[in-house]
Amino acid sequence: MRSPWFNKPLAIFGPRPPISWLLLCVVCVLGLIAILGSTSLSAFDSVTPTPVLDIYSNYRRLKEQAAVDYLELRTLSSAAGRQRELGLCGREQENYVPCYNVSANLLTGLKDGEEFDRHCEISRPREQCLVRPPKDYKIPLRWPAGKDVIWSGNVKITKDQFLSSGSMTKRLMLLEENQFAFHSEDGLIFDGVKDYSHQVAEMIGLGGDSEFVQAGVQTVLDIGCGFGSFGAHLVSLKLMSVCIAAYEATGSQVQMALERGLPAMIGNFISRQLPYPSLSFDMIHCAQCGIVWDKKDGMFLIEVDRVLKPGGYFVLTSPASNPHGSSLSTKKRSTLTPIEEFTEEICWNLIAQQDETFIWQKTVDVHCYKTRKRGAIPICNDGHDSSSYYQPLVSCISGTTSNRWIPIQNRSSGPHLSSAELEIHGVQLEDYFEDSQVWRSALRNYWSLLSPLIFSDHPKRPGDEDPTPPFNMVRNVMDMNARYGGLNAAMLEENKLVWVMNVVPVRSNTLPLILGRGFAGVLHDWCEPFPTYPRTYDLLHANGLLTHLSSERCSMMDLFLEMDRILRPEGWVIFSDKLGAIEMAQALAMQIHWEARVIDLDNGSDQRLLVCQKPFLKK
Ligand SMILES: *[C@@H]1O[C@H](CO)[C@@H](O)[C@H](O)[C@H]1NC(C)=O
Ligand SMILES: *[C@@H]1O[C@H](CO)[C@@H](O)[C@H](O)[C@H]1NC(C)=O
Ligand SMILES: *[C@@H]1O[C@H](CO)[C@@H](O)[C@H](O)[C@H]1NC(C)=O
Repeated sequence: MRSPWFNKPLAIFGPRPPISWLLLCVVCVLGLIAILGSTSLSAFDSVTPTPVLDIYSNYRRLKEQAAVDYLELRTLSSAAGRQRELGLCGREQENYVPCYNVSANLLTGLKDGEEFDRHCEISRPREQCLVRPPKDYKIPLRWPAGKDVIWSGNVKITKDQFLSSGSMTKRLMLLEENQFAFHSEDGLIFDGVKDYSHQVAEMIGLGGDSEFVQAGVQTVLDIGCGFGSFGAHLVSLKLMSVCIAAYEATGSQVQMALERGLPAMIGNFISRQLPYPSLSFDMIHCAQCGIVWDKKDGMFLIEVDRVLKPGGYFVLTSPASNPHGSSLSTKKRSTLTPIEEFTEEICWNLIAQQDETFIWQKTVDVHCYKTRKRGAIPICNDGHDSSSYYQPLVSCISGTTSNRWIPIQNRSSGPHLSSAELEIHGVQLEDYFEDSQVWRSALRNYWSLLSPLIFSDHPKRPGDEDPTPPFNMVRNVMDMNARYGGLNAAMLEENKLVWVMNVVPVRSNTLPLILGRGFAGVLHDWCEPFPTYPRTYDLLHANGLLTHLSSERCSMMDLFLEMDRILRPEGWVIFSDKLGAIEMAQALAMQIHWEARVIDLDNGSDQRLLVCQKPFLKK
């Protein structure tokens, strides 16, 4: 529902008086390389000589240095001269994803699948270098064309994996020599995903898949999503479908999905819970996702139950004969299989079965757990509702005492929560109202800043109208410190064709609210790498993150290297923070060759923006 207060004018940036906008301080990486090259090399580059970098600028070129404030530059140069610029990592690290070194994990004795889990503590300290793009890397196609066609040189896949891709959600074909094509709307490549989606909708009693949203299904967790085709279809129906899959060194489902501009992250739950709170998703989908559901005493099903909202659906499609022995077939039978017994125990109701697809619905009635036949699976003591970051899987039922126990059919649809829902999340209406307003005006200014012109001699003023950034070149957005998801909401309102990964730092508690708005979100500790492949985001946004992290144990340089890893070449970063933090960020940005420019909001506060662009570096 669109709220009336969104029609009010800009707030934080004032009533748009362009003259009062000051653009401060151009920092030109190229210029600094030239000016400082000799001093920094002689003093500090004993180990890694700075490689000669060719900078490819498709649509932007830095012109003269004359416009640069000379004094400002000199101050910065004396500071930056003491730090060396970082070089590129070796070719073998092109697809580097930290924390997933299976051989190292095996060496420490992890087994039974746990070697595929994320283990940051085992990985060696990170080399201080920039992950380079593959030789044939090309900037992805614009959305929505990029949903159906990707550059084959941008993803890592073996010939065998390519040839064996043939299942419904994993169909891939070579279009041109250097392009992969997936499903296309014109039906040229028929993949059956639409029929499948329609079938699922009918099985839960709907007239068609366009009715998912009315039925309360807004967010879907797609486990082992193939190359994301089901998710791509759901996105076209305005659902938020997030793909998760284990780390894969080649043929990665998550890498493919992200390259197509679809929400995805690396995630599995072999021994630990997913980084989502309980009661997070409306539907969980597994089509041949490779999980043996009755293993580990049903702990995998309990984890699905944990993150599923009341009244939510678990859709399982498993062509490999079937996962339940023969007993779930239409044949008459007298005994229950382990899975059937189990799903009864956790108060799931098998509502439909057709072909190879089974759909269960989680109970809406919290009293169901008291009336179970056996009651062998206990209810968790609460406290499990707090944080699920690095928590082990549990064998008890979570979320039953949560005040967020609301059937999906009852909750308000759309990105705005009712005041009753806000109260459940412990958020004041005025606070939420103000947050929404701040982000609505901030977004307009951001968008006008994401222009190649910002780094030129004639910078755009924030707020100027312009069809920038280059139309639809920003699709995958990460809000690194998302709070209530206000930036995401503002993007939706402005009809930006983006999706946002709303990251909530551990120790903050707003993720349930974000997920409740139907957005993608995840808990994360920014002292660690983010579980994604290199070059998967077009825009990173960090509001207050640097100040937030200043009290933490972690290295800022590692954070910047990680941001550089996950950002695609020519992708953008926006920091919004206090002056001191921004100055530090600017120095770090220069060390990793980003172009960076400080923007003074000029409203009398010490709040500044730093807009950066990652260059397309090659050696
Ligand atoms: C993974 O771990 C092994 C064993 O410790 C090590 O030899 C190898 O270099 C590591 N690989 C990466 C990419 O760090
Ligand atoms: C959900 O809505 C139904 C029908 O409006 C109502 O009877 C029920 O009490 C609601 N449940 C909750 C938990 O709000
Ligand atoms: C200036 O603008 C920033 C924008 O985020 C805001 O946080 C800050 O409160 C504003 N300061 C004043 C004095 O208006």
